[in-house]
Amino acid sequence: MAIERTLSIIKPDGVKRNLIGKILQRFEENGLKVAAMKLVHLSKKEAEGFYAVHRERPFFESLTTMMSSSPVVVQVLEGESAIAKNREIMGATNPANASEGTIRKDFAVSIEENTVHGSDAPETAAQEIAYFFSSTELVNAS
Ligand code: CMP
Repeated sequence: MAIERTLSIIKPDGVKRNLIGKILQRFEENGLKVAAMKLVHLSKKEAEGFYAVHRERPFFESLTTMMSSSPVVVQVLEGESAIAKNREIMGATNPANASEGTIRKDFAVSIEENTVHGSDAPETAAQEIAYFFSSTELVNAS
């Protein structure tokens, strides 16, 4: 198995409800390490740029308004199969379909306010990491 990096976001609903520590604990307990991290309040334009792949979807306006409504934590998680592992820890996009013990099952408010985001593939992970971090902001965490 290869060491990978993935982009993770703790969304406004997670930050507002003081869930940063509990969510980080899930990642750390499952062997993922933080390679970069910051708290940012995205502009509407930044949220639209990040979710550009969804711009034709009916939920795009609402999603990008929600993502720019208050601060988020953006972080790079590193570890073996980090992309798939992060998605497993997060659970399904819709909390109604998320498995027991996942972040979204335990904390998500709705399919939109689903508490965390995680890259879905190596190409998107590389793009999403570069959207928020320069190479000098990343450490070798493993
Ligand atoms: P995320 O993993 O960040 O990727 C895209 C986001 O769009 C998703 O989590 C949800 O926040 C949101 N989303 C996906 N599907 C829907 C939907 N059917 N209705 C509203 N929001 C959605």
